[in-house]
Amino acid sequence: MRSALLALVVLMAGAIAATAETRTSARELLPPELQAQQADDDANPGMLWVTSGQQLWSMPAGANAKSCSECHGDATTSMRGIAARYPAIDAKSGRLMNLEQRINNCRTANMAAAALPYEGEDLLALTAYVAHQSRGLPVSVRIDNAAAPHFEAGRRFYFERQGQLNVSCSQCHDDNVGRRLRGDRISSGLPTAWPAYRLDWQKMGSLHRRLRACSLGVRAEQLDFGSPEYVNLELYLAGRADGHLVETPGLRK
Ligand code: HEC
Ligand code: HEC
Repeated sequence: MRSALLALVVLMAGAIAATAETRTSARELLPPELQAQQADDDANPGMLWVTSGQQLWSMPAGANAKSCSECHGDATTSMRGIAARYPAIDAKSGRLMNLEQRINNCRTANMAAAALPYEGEDLLALTAYVAHQSRGLPVSVRIDNAAAPHFEAGRRFYFERQGQLNVSCSQCHDDNVGRRLRGDRISSGLPTAWPAYRLDWQKMGSLHRRLRACSLGVRAEQLDFGSPEYVNLELYLAGRADGHLVETPGLRK
């Protein structure tokens, strides 16, 4: 009886302690050699996409033949810290945009160029390049004012039981952190490493591709890349990752 009570107290203490500070990046649960590979720019395969994003940055595109660099200059200074505060509300349209959508908005609105396909190599490369400029900086998204209803919708999605398995994101990424699941160890589900290189995919992929894999895992509907539901969810994930450092490009199993 006494030990059962004790176990309950410990369990509850664990639940309370799961604040932003104590959440665990998937990186920390990887085998040491993969952690070392992510940390080494010469060995991290995601750096290939970062490098190709760097080339695209100064390549003219669209009817006005403008490049990103013509307006934004040196990305290492102009893009520093930006990914750490996305998704964010676009002042002009009032829409919540993630980084991929913000980049595509620049192409359509500022360059008279076509939007790049989500999950295509060019958008992955540009997103990885821009996000990489925030590597090592703490995530800090706005969740107040116009962002508040999006954050709330994302939070609801996160706690809703889904799919044939009828489990929520939280049941894995809060309640079972550290446990093994099909060769993985479950992390806190932070969005800080993305786009990331997954060995399983043998390539770079977006956060939404990772979310689709989690949706499939519980036999729930896979939503479209860039769907408003996933962007709201992304904002919630970024909010609960507050203060965690951007890792892009992450390396994952
Ligand atoms: C013709 C000038 C122009 C070009 C070219 C351009 N942008 Fe922009 N960009 C802007 C302006 C202006 C803003 C501010 C928001 C707005 O008005 O769209 C912006 C905003 C951004 C932001 C968000 C910054 C923030 O503080 O939130 C990102 C990221 C971005 N651009 C990336 C890119 C990328 C990547 C490219 C190339 C594919 C690009 N931009 C090309 C003008 C440009
Ligand atoms: C059945 C358990 C399970 C459920 C439910 C689940 N996931 Fe996952 N998720 C995993 C596993 C396993 C991984 C890969 C290991 C890891 O990073 O945790 C993962 C990875 C992730 C990652 C990548 C973390 C990183 O740093 O690479 C994110 C983000 C994520 N999940 C978010 C979600 C969201 C949001 C939901 C709800 C829509 C969800 N997951 C539902 C098991 C689950």
